[in-house]
Amino acid sequence: METSAIILAAGSGTRMKSAKPKVAHELLGKPLVRWVVDAAREAGVGTVISVLGHGIDVVRPLVEHDTQVVVQQQRNGTADAVNSAREACEGMTGSLLVLSGDCPLIRPETIAGLARAREEADAAVAVLTMEAENPFGYGRIIRDAQGQVECIVEQKDCTPEQAAVTECNSGFYCFDAQYLFDALNRVSNENAQGEFYLTDVIGIARADGRSVVALCAEDPEECLGINTRLQLSVAAKVMQRRMNTAFMLAGVTMLDPETVWIGPGVTIEQDVELLPQTMLMGKTSVASGSVIGPNTRLTDTVVGHDCVLDETVAVEAVIEDGCHCGPRAYLRPQTRLCEGAKAGTHVEIKKSTIGKGSKVPHLSYIGDTTMGDGVNIGAGSITCNYDGQNKWPTVIGDNTFIGSDTMMVAPVTIGDDALVGAGSVITADVPDGALALGRARQIIKTQHK
Ligand code: UD1
Ligand code: CA
Repeated sequence: METSAIILAAGSGTRMKSAKPKVAHELLGKPLVRWVVDAAREAGVGTVISVLGHGIDVVRPLVEHDTQVVVQQQRNGTADAVNSAREACEGMTGSLLVLSGDCPLIRPETIAGLARAREEADAAVAVLTMEAENPFGYGRIIRDAQGQVECIVEQKDCTPEQAAVTECNSGFYCFDAQYLFDALNRVSNENAQGEFYLTDVIGIARADGRSVVALCAEDPEECLGINTRLQLSVAAKVMQRRMNTAFMLAGVTMLDPETVWIGPGVTIEQDVELLPQTMLMGKTSVASGSVIGPNTRLTDTVVGHDCVLDETVAVEAVIEDGCHCGPRAYLRPQTRLCEGAKAGTHVEIKKSTIGKGSKVPHLSYIGDTTMGDGVNIGAGSITCNYDGQNKWPTVIGDNTFIGSDTMMVAPVTIGDDALVGAGSVITADVPDGALALGRARQIIKTQHK
């Protein structure tokens, strides 16, 4: 059966106290609305329609590549929001899910389960409910004497008896696509908020003699809606635990998972060890046998097998097998450490290749550099790549030894098997096998007083 989804994301999110629309706020580096779109896709949903309104210029780019965008002109309630997708849903059959763009913890299995529950019962609607410890603010699920769902009553419209009900509407539904828009025509805004409530469709369906099924979420955490930054932090914590649990069960060791943060686009092989205060974000990947952390942040970085990254920050870097980084290494975009290379303590490397087994162990800046294999860079050496206007390249050949505190003034090429004396300022190219010294000759005056 065809399964489609409408994602409601037009709300303003006033309580976020933000210039940014609520659904564009990020959880582990991914916007809230993307979590919902991706969960729908993983659940096997075909067509996805995003209802946007507030902050559309910011939200549209997040969803327009893989969902159909419709605009809700005025925020007149959740039924009105769904109604703005009416044309986009013309002729649709099968199941039509309605999902909240601000509930990022929803699992694909739960979305698929909701669609299945509706289809099995041939119900007009299946609604996901939850047992809330504190139901205040949620729509209450009102059941009849037979235990069948009769209607949903919003907090502001509840009688005291209804307000005492703890089974709540999570805001996730699956409708009979052909029935939904007919029922929406009959939703009114005669209620405490003067809004068109999507939840009224449940009562309308029952009055039409259609069945309504309720599926209770096993884990109410999944339904957590983000309205404030406090809830955003709670959701982030839930997602962190979910990610870390999955990785640990897949063979990743974590000494203290509470301090390890892994984004949704990260891959980690088994037998990787993550030490405290480690953040792996973007499209980072780590191959088996590597030890990462403590105090390490990797973004869009590829790490090979058997590396040790201690107190390292890396962005868009490639670190091949058997490399050592840190403590306190900073690898910036387009850095490549070839097999067995080292970027040691207080070392910054940008847009450079460090050849196989080459070492930059202490207090160095290497930028716009192509370095061969087996090179040793003495402590405190720097490539002077910037003349105030342009960046210039440095080339260092294989098996060359650069003495400590060398300034390599780019553009400059130092050949293979060369030797540069400590404290040199290298402004001219050094041929293969040559010794270069570029420093003042030491003077000794025995009687200086
Ligand atoms: C809604 C439900 C309530 C449920 C709760 C769960 C209704 C009437 N009530 O209440 O039963 O317990 O969710 O979280 O549906 N939106 C639009 N356009 C609008 C209004 C809302 O796109 O005109 C979007 C919001 O951005 C949000 C979602 O719809 O993503 C839910 O709207 P919200 O105002 O948060 O609903 P609640 O009052 O929390
Ligand atoms: Ca509301």
